[in-house]
Amino acid sequence: MKFFVDTAETDQIAELNDLGMVDGVTTNPSLILKSGRDILEVTKEIAEMVEGPVSAEVVALKADEMIAEGRKLAKIAGNIAVKVPLTWDGLKACKVLSGEGNMVNVTLCFSANQALLAAKAGATFISPFIGRLDDINLDGMDLIADIRTIYDNYGFETQILAASIRSVNHAYQAAMIGADVMTAPPAVIKKMAEHPLTDAGLETFMADWAKTGQQIL
Ligand code: E4P
Repeated sequence: MKFFVDTAETDQIAELNDLGMVDGVTTNPSLILKSGRDILEVTKEIAEMVEGPVSAEVVALKADEMIAEGRKLAKIAGNIAVKVPLTWDGLKACKVLSGEGNMVNVTLCFSANQALLAAKAGATFISPFIGRLDDINLDGMDLIADIRTIYDNYGFETQILAASIRSVNHAYQAAMIGADVMTAPPAVIKKMAEHPLTDAGLETFMADWAKTGQQIL
């Protein structure tokens, strides 16, 4: 499973990238706002930092304007994935931009039918939002499973990018289902290293080690 980091905070991306945990980055208008940075400038900086796809989202709502914005974003670097919303206009933009050889991430996906359309429009990535479905008492993970089944049924190459990951359990379940990629906030990725038995075991080892009176260095 590939790990994308869902942030525009370059220091946090750098820390995970140094550990080999970053296969790509996703941003969105809210994350750009949070970073307080200029979209073109911060996207360029991120794209130079990581080797994998860096998603940068268009903000126009009409297909022709999305295409123009997408072309501009794609020019930032060779590893930009243009992010377009899952609307009819977004699908039109996806078809054109992917036809021009760009990676396209179709975002704000909340149904299997939407995912099917995105694959047919040539999406490189489909981003089903797990957490936001959970927020309205639907099971976001069911959507990941449905899309996996449909894409496998017909051999679609569009990669399932499990998005809106809010917990380590989301990450685990998406991996079990076979999502190709997950994008998660840095804090969730770091939390995946934690386990109470690891902490308890380490505490015992440290206490026993102190009793030996020995030192390694
Ligand atoms: C994905 O590309 C989105 O940026 C992100 O996962 C949205 O997550 P949220 O629902 O926690 O805002």
